[in-house]
Amino acid sequence: MPTLTHVCTCPLIHPSMYKRPMLKVFQITSRSNIAFTTNVLKSLNLRFDNLKIKIEHKTTSNYIPKMANAVTFQNGQKMPLVGLGTYLSSNEQELETALNTALEAGYRHIDTAFMYANEHVIGRVLKQWFDSGKLKREDLFIVTKLPPVGMTPEKVSLFLKKSLESLQLTYLDLYLVHVPFGLQFVDEETRFPMKDGKAMFDNATDLVAVWKALENEVDAGRVKSLGISNFNTEQVKRIVNIARHKPMNHQYETHAYFQQKELREANKKLGITVCAYAPFGSPGRKTFYDSKGVSFESNGLLDDPIVKKIAEKYGKTSAQILLRFLTQQGVVCIPKSVTPARIKQNIDIFDIELTPDEIKELEALEKGAAGRTFDFNVFTGVQSHPEYPFKSA
Ligand SMILES: NC(=O)c1ccc[n+]([C@@H]2O[C@H](COP(=O)([O-])OP(=O)(O)OC[C@H]3O[C@@H](n4cnc5c(N)ncnc54)[C@H](OP(=O)(O)O)[C@@H]3O)[C@@H](O)[C@H]2O)c1
Repeated sequence: MPTLTHVCTCPLIHPSMYKRPMLKVFQITSRSNIAFTTNVLKSLNLRFDNLKIKIEHKTTSNYIPKMANAVTFQNGQKMPLVGLGTYLSSNEQELETALNTALEAGYRHIDTAFMYANEHVIGRVLKQWFDSGKLKREDLFIVTKLPPVGMTPEKVSLFLKKSLESLQLTYLDLYLVHVPFGLQFVDEETRFPMKDGKAMFDNATDLVAVWKALENEVDAGRVKSLGISNFNTEQVKRIVNIARHKPMNHQYETHAYFQQKELREANKKLGITVCAYAPFGSPGRKTFYDSKGVSFESNGLLDDPIVKKIAEKYGKTSAQILLRFLTQQGVVCIPKSVTPARIKQNIDIFDIELTPDEIKELEALEKGAAGRTFDFNVFTGVQSHPEYPFKSA
């Protein structure tokens, strides 16, 4: 009687099968890969209707999936394909619940930034998980970002150490340059320095000098990998050309309406993996943008009829299809949610495989530059900064 003790998830194992007689088989340890399961069944030469399924649900307290569904950096480090985004997750109670839900659901990757002013909440929750013994530091992939006010070589170490302190960690898995333009440093707590209603830019931002300072942080063991965010191709190349520690990951806006295929291709050629922010077009920004006097309307991506049609076929939501579209192409996604049901849903995507035709249908939703929803105009006057990355947009 064959016994499988490996992963198996289970749209495949439909409840009607539980009642059928015969062989004992599965131990269900995590949601995972339907193709894998099918292959195993085929290799055992078993027919589904000859199986009796023994189900053992294991919870995160005794089973911690490690970096399943990940991309591998050039340096060998693995980055989970789905992480929890935390931009605008500013309500502490809500974020704590979101983090606990995510970790229980199997998320092992969290994306934050000094700019989000929530690293201390994440640190508090992570400490509880470490103290309880449910997770170890090496089970997780934690990403945060150097703020624009830290974009000078002499401020890099200060802001990295502040992030580590808030997160209660001794090292980061990935530290990103949040944006290529700098703002003037006022004091350690000011994130949006303003004067007379205008953002205070530092027009002397020197990306190469900042990168060299970041490399010292890798040497010091405070960061495993460095990355960039919101760079254009010329800026990426400028860094790659001088780097001792090359960027391993580039985080930028990408979703079905704004796929940035050329940028993705350029990154690929340089051996840089891609992480998609705003995989749903970031529909929840209205309140924040209103507060900055910038108008914002959701792009409606989650309601797109093509996305909905594909979702219906698989019994999934539009959000899940949009995430699968990207992850199936090797793009890491960091969907943000503070809603427990959505958090669980957003990582429950690896049991379907979109067909090549469906990928093509989704690719055809591309809107070019009109699909961009983040242009950083919340920093009034940003387009005049010498390092503003989206000049042709
Ligand atoms: N590097 C950068 O410059 C940069 C810029 C932007 C974002 N990011 C990172 O990328 C992450 C994701 O981007 P984002 O937060 O801007 O946008 P997003 O993930 O595209 O959208 C988040 C919004 O979608 C809603 N949502 C989440 N899951 C859903 C689902 N299954 N069904 C329906 N609605 C759903 C959320 O609502 P609820 O929370 O109310 O559930 C929230 O309003 C950020 O949180 C941040 O970590 C980085």
